[in-house]
Amino acid sequence: MRKDPLHKCLFPVAGLGTRFLPATKDIPKEMLPLIDKPIIHYGVEEAVLSGCRDIVFVTGRSKRSIEDYFDRSTELEQLLEQRGQNELRDNLVRISEIANFAYVRQSEPLGLGHAVLCGEPCLNDSHFGLILPDDVILSEKPVLGQLAEVHSERGGSVLALEEVSWEETSRYGIVEGLELGNGLFRITDLVEKPLPGEAPGRLAIIGRYLLSGSIFRHLRSAGAGVNGEIQLTDALKGLLAEEPVFGLLYKGERLDCGTKVDWLRATVKMALRDPELKEFVLDIVRKEGCLGR
Ligand code: UTP
Repeated sequence: MRKDPLHKCLFPVAGLGTRFLPATKDIPKEMLPLIDKPIIHYGVEEAVLSGCRDIVFVTGRSKRSIEDYFDRSTELEQLLEQRGQNELRDNLVRISEIANFAYVRQSEPLGLGHAVLCGEPCLNDSHFGLILPDDVILSEKPVLGQLAEVHSERGGSVLALEEVSWEETSRYGIVEGLELGNGLFRITDLVEKPLPGEAPGRLAIIGRYLLSGSIFRHLRSAGAGVNGEIQLTDALKGLLAEEPVFGLLYKGERLDCGTKVDWLRATVKMALRDPELKEFVLDIVRKEGCLGR
């Protein structure tokens, strides 16, 4: 049973980024650099490599720079051309050409579920990808593409899963499911951020989803919960009562960039993977006299 390929991917980027203040007072968290590209660029590349040609951003106040980043910058391009820096110019132009970009606004940050619901007018396909760009994932095969492969064989919705430690379960949505082999599960229940000692397992939902269009109906009926927010987890619970929802232990390395410490760790890890930068990083640490202590 081959299902339709994936064409569209939603990026909710309207959050306040409070864990990164004051840096994120006026700069979107998603535009902070990871080495030489903003965090959001990695997620968009993943979606494109997974077959998506339409990228939908749910944006909010102070997020204009995301729109500008994925648009042409004619003045800068002309200047680079005049200076003979054509390769640099071409690289910039390419950013605006990697996909079609659309933007919808979330006027109040009423939670991830609400942000996804805001994207509905732009997502009329039977299914779509959802990427939370805080999680940058390095992998041979793009993670959203790994989910799309499961969907193409089995249909339904597919969530990327990671096994976390018992101490970490309270930071994630945790699923219960029937193991189908090769890291694939048919999800039977899920619980949002269970208290320590109350988690039904260690399989955590991370920031990659392939969702059936029916999720919007469930988001509408989920209604506002704590702090007036609409929770995606509540809608997913409704969805799995009606349609198959699978979970896949994805193959790849996740670099969480959502907090100062996580972002710093991700930056160092990326630099250590780069043959040109690795020696610089080690040299800085050596000079600071920290190695070997
Ligand atoms: P987070 O839970 O990371 O929240 O949202 P945040 O606002 O970005 O950061 P903190 O917790 O205040 O530091 C997960 C994803 O959902 C988006 C965020 O932009 C992020 O990509 N989001 C969250 C919205 O688009 N709207 C919301 O109302 C909430």
